[in-house]
Amino acid sequence: MNLLSANNLSHKFDYELFSNASLELDEKESIAIIGTSGSGKSTLLHIVSTLLKPFGGEVFIFGENVSKMSKKRLMEIKREELGIVFQSHYLFKGFSAMENLEVAAILSNQKVEDELLKRLDIAECIHQKVTQLSGGQQQRVSIARVLTKKPRILFLDEPTGNLDKATANEVMSVFFEYISTMNAGMVLVTHDEELAFKCHKVYRLVNKELLRIV
Ligand SMILES: Nc1ncnc2c1ncn2[C@@H]1O[C@H](COP(=O)(O)OP(=O)(O)O)[C@@H](O)[C@H]1O
Ligand SMILES: [Mg+2]
Repeated sequence: MNLLSANNLSHKFDYELFSNASLELDEKESIAIIGTSGSGKSTLLHIVSTLLKPFGGEVFIFGENVSKMSKKRLMEIKREELGIVFQSHYLFKGFSAMENLEVAAILSNQKVEDELLKRLDIAECIHQKVTQLSGGQQQRVSIARVLTKKPRILFLDEPTGNLDKATANEVMSVFFEYISTMNAGMVLVTHDEELAFKCHKVYRLVNKELLRIV
């Protein structure tokens, strides 16, 4: 089943970032988008994850045109089906890590899974305040928070940027297992080519074009 299609997307801020960018994401599939800093990867991810309206082109989620969705339907999809991990994480700072996860669990009617906390190596620090955690621990808490929602599509912007190689590999295997067991899909933005080539499809954003290279 097709989870996401983007057709001929274009966007510009002060100058044109890209045009004619298209991609397709199916169940159990992972897509990587690579490109130099400033090429527009985060912008493209914001567009396909419905956070930003493209200048041109269309995004379909589960076959529904995002620009034609009612506000209510879009809210519902964002809350229940889309999981977004930003480059910088937005945890509630006054709360513990666990309280942050519980908010996500309540909003999406799910449970916080001990197994996930163990896999992400945050079981031990889960009752500490967010501000007492290292950058890498905070990043893994924000990943746990997103996965707790059980989304159908994951959008990941440099999700392992703050992590050492071994932890990054473990986090990526959590994502890969998640998409195959949950019939989900993921779009990963990264500058790490080795990581990118572990995905089913690889696109490079270069010279304002999105080129499929794998
Ligand atoms: N909201 C914005 N307003 C104006 N310019 C922006 C905005 N967001 C990004 N840009 C510019 O667009 C370009 C691409 O940014 P970005 O998508 O973050 O690239 P990447 O993620 O590949 O590093 C950069 O030059 C950035 O300064
Ligand atoms: Mg970026």
